[in-house]
Amino acid sequence: MESISIGLLGLGTVGSGVVQIIEKHQDKLMHQVGCPVVVKRVLVKDADKERAVKVDRNLLTLNPEDILNDADIDVVIEVMGGIEETRNHLKKALDNGKHVVTANKDLMAVYGPELLAAATQNGCDLFYEASVAGGIPILRGLVDGLASDRITKMMGIVNGTTNFILTKMSKNGSAYEEVLKEAQELGYAESDPTADVEGLDAARKMAILSTLGFSMNIDLDDVKVKGITDITEEDLQYGKQLGYTMKLIGIAHREGEKVEVSVQPTLLSESHPLASVQDEYNAVYVYGEAVGETMFYGPGAGSLPTATAVVSDLVGVMKNMRLGVNGKSAVAPQYDKKLKGADE
Ligand code: NAP
Ligand code: HSE
Repeated sequence: MESISIGLLGLGTVGSGVVQIIEKHQDKLMHQVGCPVVVKRVLVKDADKERAVKVDRNLLTLNPEDILNDADIDVVIEVMGGIEETRNHLKKALDNGKHVVTANKDLMAVYGPELLAAATQNGCDLFYEASVAGGIPILRGLVDGLASDRITKMMGIVNGTTNFILTKMSKNGSAYEEVLKEAQELGYAESDPTADVEGLDAARKMAILSTLGFSMNIDLDDVKVKGITDITEEDLQYGKQLGYTMKLIGIAHREGEKVEVSVQPTLLSESHPLASVQDEYNAVYVYGEAVGETMFYGPGAGSLPTATAVVSDLVGVMKNMRLGVNGKSAVAPQYDKKLKGADE
């Protein structure tokens, strides 16, 4: 293959990071996949906007068909966010034989099974490592690294924005609104941060994690959710005086075939390892029957950390292209079994 052509949907926080990594690490990418990686077209909403990276103005388009119907584009990288419109774009990309890499947990938590089925039918890869815990390779850790084990519990911090807010409120006594604004400016928060602060973003990630970890379909509706909007500075200071730290914790637990998944603010003893996870960092404990306790830790949001996961998925797609095994990937499993609540 002379080169791999990419169609990028979105050039915001994550998209800019993707362009930077493809440019900066081109030699490493060449070495791994044997040919240059070229960003051929980029979908945006506003072609005149000032951007964090320089991209040839002629590459920008407002028309998704310029990417989805371009026969020369091999891989579509989706970093635009949103659900319904994006689902249609990705379905079309897959039906047109393009491999897809996405960072979109909103989409994957709801339409993951449908899109993964479309990928398999079309012999395409659909990878989504960046959708959970930003730069931490936790999906591959679960699906590949712990493939031989039976996962019984996952517990951790999977939203960078709320961890950033709780850390700053607790450490510096900063006001909620002020720190939320800072998280938005740093590119950690979603374009509408409601999903972050109300716990829905973490719930989506826990649904994805437990689907992969427990090998059964866990719907978003099955996840019990409470966010941090009711937490006051006084709550945090009071907890601190008693030796506790407040974190937004996701827990997925199974006993036999019964599973419970939830997200809620939780007071942790200051000596608990998750209590020391600061700012936008994430950490997830994964318990396996054979391995015991493992912990995945790293930056859970932000441009370059998230883009690292996206471009690593791209490398995975390209390696599969060389081997001719696209569409047969372990990160695209389909499960028949539905969640059974622990009280059933
Ligand atoms: P963002 O900064 O808001 O960027 C979104 C980009 O998509 C912008 O370039 C925007 O165009 C473009 N876009 C949005 N809707 C569009 C539409 N309807 N048509 C054409 N272009 C459209 O978002 P982000 O933070 O990069 O996040 C992107 C995705 O990655 C989301 O699914 C998010 O959940 C996920 N993610 C983000 C992070 C993070 O740390 N930010 C981490 C993990 C996963 P304009 O620039 O012209 O407005
Ligand atoms: N808004 C998300 C967060 C981005 O704060 O964790 C990473 O998925």
